[in-house]
Parts: sequence; structure tokens; C-alpha cells
Amino acid sequence: MDRLPGFRDFYPEPLPHKDVWSADVRGYIFNTWRQVSLRYGFREYDGPPLEPLELYTLKSGDEIVAQLYNFTDKGQRQISLRPEMTPTLARMVAAHHGNYRKPIKWFSIPQLFRYERQQKGRLREHFQFNADILGDAASGADAEIVALVIDVLRAFGLTHEDFVIRLSSRSAWSQYFSQRCADQERSYEFFQIIDKLEREDPVVSREKLSQLGMSYDEVAAFIASGEPTEELQSILDNLAARGLSDFVKVDYGVIRGLAYYTGPVFEAFDRKGNFRAIAGGGRYDHLTQLISGGKAQIPSLGFGMGDVVLTELLKERGLLPTFSAPAQIYALIEDESLRLGTLTAIQSFRDAGFSTDYSLAPLKADKQFKRALELKAQWTFRLEKNDASELVYLIKTLSTREEQRFSSLEQTLQFLQNQPH
Ligand code: HAM
Repeated sequence: MDRLPGFRDFYPEPLPHKDVWSADVRGYIFNTWRQVSLRYGFREYDGPPLEPLELYTLKSGDEIVAQLYNFTDKGQRQISLRPEMTPTLARMVAAHHGNYRKPIKWFSIPQLFRYERQQKGRLREHFQFNADILGDAASGADAEIVALVIDVLRAFGLTHEDFVIRLSSRSAWSQYFSQRCADQERSYEFFQIIDKLEREDPVVSREKLSQLGMSYDEVAAFIASGEPTEELQSILDNLAARGLSDFVKVDYGVIRGLAYYTGPVFEAFDRKGNFRAIAGGGRYDHLTQLISGGKAQIPSLGFGMGDVVLTELLKERGLLPTFSAPAQIYALIEDESLRLGTLTAIQSFRDAGFSTDYSLAPLKADKQFKRALELKAQWTFRLEKNDASELVYLIKTLSTREEQRFSSLEQTLQFLQNQPH
């Protein structure tokens, strides 16, 4: 039976087929996301993968609502798999923000589900690193979030030659719209046209804009101007002080598709333009208010970075490590009467933190040794009995093939612990 289209199987490396994904790479990416988040003082949170449908119909925008995996559950509730994390976060923080010192700096690595057309960089399920700051309205927080995106990507070995953060402003676009169109109700429609500008046939965009009484050429000129607003300039100055200027440029071609953004917004792209967005985010100051029915009003901002484009990009740039699961110690059981004694030793090695493997079933000695080599073990271990029927503990260092003999498990462990490993 096949898996569903747009979903992935994650196998340990080496991968058995080009159509599967690496569980090792996924683990590496998650670890890196976590490490850099912790370095920036973010705490981890999570929420449920299923939410009430209404959480998304409220303010995420038509595009994402059209992609929901929603259904009626057995209790007749309208529910959906989460397509993004931000509404869940807003709901969680609105409910209990009084318990936390502001600003709240939280991250999460949820698996998200969107019924999208499967294409390069877009699947029906992905893992998305989210980092958000809640309770800080100043542009220093926006800069902190952008710096985190940059440092996360740098931690994978990517440089300013590989990627750029295109920084824009939803509020600048709102202002642009309100000065030119009397019908304020249609602003989201306008944002959607701008969001699609780079992917859509210009003839279609021109027509859609003219239906709003807007000029395509004027829009193009506004984008080309790239003049930073005061707020964007202060973000740029903040990043410059950190030596991160090379990673960011003002680009009004970005506006973000989701409906809830209110201020600075950004997307990270590879410089060559071969991939879809690596990450995207921005400020969404009204979402907690909306989701809590006005009970909480917490200025908020953050971003999401998916694992799909990132993996493709790291693979293309040759920046993915190769993975294997080397056992430090491989225990050889050549005499089955010594299996139980060997298990006692294996348990002690593992308790002491050494990754240790062995053959579960009886196996010829040469096959066991071959397995130790395959696993790139640093040492083999085996038990023997001497002429006086006493146990002898033997450790062989595989790089030199030198073998040491010990008369007790304690001595064996002491030896191992004193070795570089
Ligand atoms: P988004 O732009 O919809 O934003 O998604 C963020 C990132 O998730 C994208 O740049 C991309 O890397 C990845 N992504 C999205 N959809 C897919 C897909 N179908 N397949 C693979 N990867 C995908 C949000 O979701 C916002 N909630 C982010 C945010 C957090 N804004 C503020 N805080």
C-alpha cells in the first residue's frame, strides 16, 4: 500500500530509495533549530495537532482556509489539522500570558498539514520551526526575530551568498492602499495580488489591480523604490550593529499571504532564486485580541521556517553531514555459554554512556567482527574464561587492533573511560 501523495516516509541513512526522506537529516535540522533558539533565550512550547476549524477561518486568510484538512469529528465538532502554528500560539498565550514575564519568547517545531498541490518545496505535510516574541511592540523585537532567522540559517553553514532576507512592511502597503482605494474592505484582496505578483502573469495582475482602481505601473514603481520606512530603517540599523547587514535588503515585493500581519514582514530566499521561500514571518499585533474576543491585546511577531525547502537547499549546497550510527563498543559473543555474562558487561557499558551493540542471535565469530567494522565501532569487547575458569575481559581497539586484557568489569570500564571517545 502506498503512502498518501504529499506525505513523507523518513528512513535512517543510508536511504534505500530516492523517494524517501532522511530521519537523520530531520533530527539534525531539529537539533540545530533548538540549539540556536536556546542561544537566543527562547523556550519550547507545543499545542494540539487538531484544532477547532474556527481558529483558522477567523483570520488566517482565504488561501490557507482553502488548504485545510478539515472534517467533522464523531462529536459533530468542526475541526482541522493545524496548517500553521500561529493561531494556536495566539490562543495559548492569550489564555495564560499573565503567568509569564514579557516579552514571551517561545519556539516550537510542529508538523503542519496543508492540502496543497504537491510541487517542489511544497508538500501536504511539513515540519515548521516557529519562533515568536509576544508582548513587545518595539522594532528591536522585529530585528531580534530577523537576526534569529539569519543565525539559524548560518548555523547550517549557509552564508550571505546563499540567502537573503527580503524585508518589507504590511503597514506601508496598507497605507499605500488606503491612499488609493476608497473600499477599505478590499485591502486583503489587494495584498493577495501583491503576494502573487512574482508568480502571476503580469497581464492577470494588471487586470486584477485595475479592478481595484489601482495602477500596475505605480505598484511596480513603489516596489522598485525600495525606500525603507522609519521602522524598517531602525530594524536595518539594529542588524547592522550585529554585523548582519549583508543578509537583509528592503524589498516591497514581499507582503506575505496570511491575513493577520500588521507591521514589518519578511521572507528568506536563496540568492539564486531556485527555491520557494525558506522562511516567512512578521508582526501580527491584533491576533491575540481577535482570538481571545478582545480579552488579551498582545503585540506579537515571529516566523515559520519549513524543513522541506531547507533540506533541498542544504542538499544542493552540499551542506548536509553524512550520518551513520556508530556503536562505540561492539560486544562479540563467540561462546554462547558466555552470553549472559556479556550482557552484564553490555549493561554496564551502556549505563556508563557508551553506545554498545551486539548480535541478538548466535552468529559466527567472523560475521560478528564484520558487523563491528560496518558499525565503525571504536572497540570490540569479548569475554573469555582462563584456565582457572575465571572471567577475562578483552577490549580491542579497532584502529590499532591492539587488545587489552582485564580481570574485572571495573578495570575494563576504567580503561574505556580514560580513552579518548
Ligand atoms: P508561511 O509563509 O505560510 O507562514 O510558512 C512558513 C514557511 O513554512 C514557508 O516559508 C515554507 O518554508 C514552509 N511551508 C509552508 N507551507 C509549506 C508546504 N506546504 N510544504 C513545505 N513547506 C511549507 C506561516 O505559516 C506563519 N504562520 C509563520 C509565522 C509564525 N508568522 C508569524 N509567526
